[in-house]
Amino acid sequence: MEPTDKQKLIMLPGPTNVSERVMKAMLGPIINHRGDSFRELYKGVLDKTRRLFQTEGEVVVFSSSGTGGVEAAVWNLIRPGDVAIVPVFGEFSTRLAETVEMAGGKAVRVTSEFGKVPTLDQLKAAMEQQGRYKAMFLVHNETSTGVAVPYVEAATKLARDHGAFSVIDAISSLGGYAIPVDKWGVDVCITGSQKCIAAPPGLALLSVSRGVVDFLKSSPPKTRYFEIPRYIEYGSRGETPFTPALPLVYALDEALNELLEEGFEKRVERHDRMSALLYDGLANMGLKPVAERSVRSRTVVASYYPQGVDDAKFRKTMAHDRGVVIAGGFGPFAGRVFRVGCMGQINEGYVTTTLKAIAETMAGLHN
Ligand SMILES: Cc1ncc(COP(=O)(O)O)c(C=O)c1O
Repeated sequence: MEPTDKQKLIMLPGPTNVSERVMKAMLGPIINHRGDSFRELYKGVLDKTRRLFQTEGEVVVFSSSGTGGVEAAVWNLIRPGDVAIVPVFGEFSTRLAETVEMAGGKAVRVTSEFGKVPTLDQLKAAMEQQGRYKAMFLVHNETSTGVAVPYVEAATKLARDHGAFSVIDAISSLGGYAIPVDKWGVDVCITGSQKCIAAPPGLALLSVSRGVVDFLKSSPPKTRYFEIPRYIEYGSRGETPFTPALPLVYALDEALNELLEEGFEKRVERHDRMSALLYDGLANMGLKPVAERSVRSRTVVASYYPQGVDDAKFRKTMAHDRGVVIAGGFGPFAGRVFRVGCMGQINEGYVTTTLKAIAETMAGLHN
C-alpha cells in the first residue's frame, strides 16, 4: 500500500484502521431514533454486543469514548465511603483509581512498577487485609506500557468470594482477547469501539451482570448521562435514553458483523500471531520490549528506543515519510518508548510494512 496523506497506516494502540465496509456504513441515512428502523438496528447491535462479551446478561452502549464507560462503571457502583481494590501499574489504572476517589470512594492501590503487573498474590493479600470492599477495578491491558494481566478470571473469582463486584477495563483488549464474562463471573466489562473491534472512535460498550442490576435497583446511581438502569430499560425496546451517535451505531453494527463473520477464536488467534511477528521483528532489530514475555500484550507492543533515537523525530518521520503512525510512551516512559497497536484489522501486510518502516527510519536517523 502506497500511503497517502489521507490514508496512513494507523498502528496506534487505538484508534486503529477501519475497513472501507465499516466506513461506508456510516453513510446510512439519518433516521428517527425512536422509530422502527432504528429499533431493529439497535436490537441487532445489542445482540451482537452480547456475543462479544459472551453474555446472556445486560449490555449497554454509550455514545462516549472508553473513558465514559469507565466513568459509568465507577459512578454506578461506588457510593461515598466505599472501598475499592485497584491494581495500579500504568496510566490507565492510575486514572481508574483517581476516578474511584472522585466518586467519593477509597481506592486501595495494589501497585507494581510500570511495565510490570502486580502479582495475584499481592492482590489476594490486599483483598484479605481489606476484608470488606465494594469492588475490584482491574485494567486488563495497560495500554500505556503494553502489559496484559494474565489472571483476570482468578482475580474475578477472588472478588466474588469476598462478595465484591469485579469490573474489568478491557478497552484495549476485548476482541484481541476473549473475556467470557458470564463464565468468569465478571460484573462489568468495558470496551471501546476504536480498538480491537475496529470501528471508529466514539462508543463505549459495557456488559452488566444480574448482581449489578439488582444492586442498582436498591441504590440508584447519581448520574444522568451514564445511568445504567435507564440504558437497560430503553435497550429492552431497542432504544437509547438519549440521542445516539447514529453514524457510529451503523459503523459498530458493521464492525461487529465483520468480527462475528471472522469468528471470535480466529480473531483472537490472529491478534496473537500478529503480535508474535511484531515482537520477533523488533527483537531481530535488537530492540527490547517493555514487557516481560509472560505479561506482554498481544494488542499493544511497547518497545524501548535504542540509545540516541529521538522520539519526536522518529515518530514524525515514520508518519510523514513512511505513512505509518505509531504512538510514544506515557509518563516515565515518555521519550524512551514507542508503542505499536496490534488491533482489529491487523494482518501480515501491516506488520511487515510497520517493521520495515521502523528499521529504515531508525537507520536513517542514525546516519
Ligand atoms: C485501558 C484503557 N482504559 C481507558 C482508556 C480510555 O479510553 P478513551 O481514550 O477511548 O476514552 C484507554 C484508551 O486508550 C485504555 O487503553
